[in-house]
Amino acid sequence: MATVILLLAITMISLVCIVAGTGSDYVLYNGEVLMAGQNLTNGSHQLAMQANCDLVLYHSAHYDKPVWKSNSSISRGDGEGNNYQRNRSCYAVLKQNGELVVRRDVHYLLWTSAKKAKKGKYVLLLDPAGHIGIYGTRRWISNNHRETEQGQETTALSSERHNPALGSTWDYVLYSSSSHGRLTAGTKLKYGEYELGFNRHCNLAINNTVTGKTLWQTNTSADTCFLELDSNGELTVKHASQRVWSNNKRGDRGRYVAVLGFDGRFAVYGPLLWSNVKFDDISSNFAMPTDESSQ
Ligand SMILES: *[C@@H]1O[C@H](CO)[C@@H](O)[C@H](O)[C@H]1NC(C)=O
Ligand SMILES: *[C@@H]1O[C@H](CO)[C@@H](O)[C@H](O)[C@H]1NC(C)=O
Ligand SMILES: *[C@@H]1O[C@H](CO)[C@@H](O)[C@H](O)[C@H]1NC(C)=O
Ligand SMILES: *[C@@H]1O[C@H](CO)[C@@H](O)[C@H](O)[C@H]1NC(C)=O
Ligand SMILES: *[C@@H]1O[C@H](CO)[C@@H](O)[C@H](O)[C@H]1NC(C)=O
Ligand SMILES: *[C@@H]1O[C@H](CO)[C@@H](O)[C@H](O)[C@H]1NC(C)=O
Repeated sequence: MATVILLLAITMISLVCIVAGTGSDYVLYNGEVLMAGQNLTNGSHQLAMQANCDLVLYHSAHYDKPVWKSNSSISRGDGEGNNYQRNRSCYAVLKQNGELVVRRDVHYLLWTSAKKAKKGKYVLLLDPAGHIGIYGTRRWISNNHRETEQGQETTALSSERHNPALGSTWDYVLYSSSSHGRLTAGTKLKYGEYELGFNRHCNLAINNTVTGKTLWQTNTSADTCFLELDSNGELTVKHASQRVWSNNKRGDRGRYVAVLGFDGRFAVYGPLLWSNVKFDDISSNFAMPTDESSQ
């Protein structure tokens, strides 16, 4: 019996994918796992899965003063988990119902975000203000084929996605109704070798910068333009106030994100399902409650 459980644990850990802690990965997709010792990083903010099974959010390297933690530490009594088996066995996973859980030894639930929704695709983001947010389900995705092998979403190894535009601070996420909700001509979203931006004459395209191949495009044409993610989740290309393209997917008002994925596809998730901060607590300008006027 013990062998079976151990085997199951090993199988599960090798099946679910592992996020590379490369310094600029701040998105966790559902099915993905943050193992003990790994973290999501956005600038000076880090969400770390610790060896003691506590999931902890740090700002500006103040490791003595976490701004948030799951309080799921299991070894208060016996030091900082100096047991190899033990620190290997705790992890955080974003489930298909949008719930974030911290588990130990596969079966044991130590903490849950508790907010559950319908089965679908969700993302967890560590935003520039240092807040954790879970968005979903996925509302729309560009219709190009995924560039990575089938099934990678649940089995990706660190090597597959540990390359968000080397050493740069390129963005790959738009946030609705914020200063991060717009992509203007001349700016780009980049993840790994994929790039989303406007070509000349305002044709919005995703291309592979290594092969030079265009993977997806809106076929739009205008003199000036920008891409905007609205607070109803709709993605539009506009020329001044005139729409020249839309993904035609509108949802309830809320906070949405559009993410250029590691598979070369662009997708919209939302609204916000769970966050470590309450709406009213959010003081950062970036994450203020949605603003009607697009500044
Ligand atoms: C986050 O991961 C990076 C890369 O693996 C590591 O250097 C850093 O120490 C980690 N930070 C924390 C708080 O665990
Ligand atoms: C943090 O995330 C935001 C939003 O995705 C992005 O614009 C910013 O570049 C990131 N910062 C760093 C230093 O990675
Ligand atoms: C963890 O414990 C601290 C101190 O008791 C508390 O303020 C905080 O809300 C707890 N975190 C969670 C996620 O419940
Ligand atoms: C487990 O924890 C010990 C002591 O904290 C550390 O030396 C070791 O590298 C950790 N092992 C893993 C797999 O994280
Ligand atoms: C890739 O897209 C960018 C715009 O995002 C464009 O400037 C560049 O010319 C494109 N490259 C190729 C080879 O199509
Ligand atoms: C752009 O045109 C190509 C070729 O006609 C088409 O396959 C593609 O679906 C169009 N893109 C969009 C977003 O409609």
